[in-house]
Amino acid sequence: MKLLHLTFSPRGEESESTRLSQAIVDRLCSQHSISSIVRRDWRLHASSAIDADYANALANAARNYADTLSYEGSLEQSERLICELEEADMVVIGTPMHNFTVPASLKTWIDLVVRVNRSFNITPAGKVGTLDSKPVYIAIASGGFFGSEHSRQPDFLTPYLKAILATIGLHDLRFFSAQGMALDGDTVKAGRLAAVNRVTENVFMSAL
Ligand SMILES: Cc1cc2nc3c(=O)[nH]c(=O)nc-3n(C[C@H](O)[C@H](O)[C@H](O)COP(=O)(O)O)c2cc1C
Repeated sequence: MKLLHLTFSPRGEESESTRLSQAIVDRLCSQHSISSIVRRDWRLHASSAIDADYANALANAARNYADTLSYEGSLEQSERLICELEEADMVVIGTPMHNFTVPASLKTWIDLVVRVNRSFNITPAGKVGTLDSKPVYIAIASGGFFGSEHSRQPDFLTPYLKAILATIGLHDLRFFSAQGMALDGDTVKAGRLAAVNRVTENVFMSAL
């Protein structure tokens, strides 16, 4: 089985979401026979936003404008990232919550992999994804708390990922979170432990 591991924190070794996503990868490796892991740390690839050729190709998709373009720049990067997703049997994503939603780095990756006439088609019934469904494990780290009636901030991150990944055919999302990571030391320790325990219990239960 092939595993794709993507992380979107700018914090490198300090990142809570990267650490939690690694706990998921380790757990999956102990449960399944993983033949390869493709690791993409988006800090190393987030040099730019999408380029004009790519934006033009998508804006003029109905006129097959993309056929007239050379596959360079964002279009080439988009193709490579979509192929990576297609080839994976399982995907693990580590992401911070930034301003109630995904960080800009993850948004750029989404802009590259959600591509009309490639990873989804527009049909009379709406947008239909072309990717085969596969488990997508998502590790989120947040400074405060979200997702419960007591949390004092909205969560646009999980509903957004559910909607946008479903657009390309990825419906099987499994969320884990380390919350309160910007609070006092005891809260951070407790949050990390609770998150890793949920990974240990639930990644096992939802094994393929
Ligand atoms: C630009 C920015 C915006 C942030 N916005 C939020 C937020 O809306 N809600 C929250 O709970 N934490 C927020 N945080 C805190 C991060 O979610 C927290 O530090 C988390 O640990 C980041 O994940 P990482 O350690 O993997 O980078 C923000 C941090 C940054 C840098």
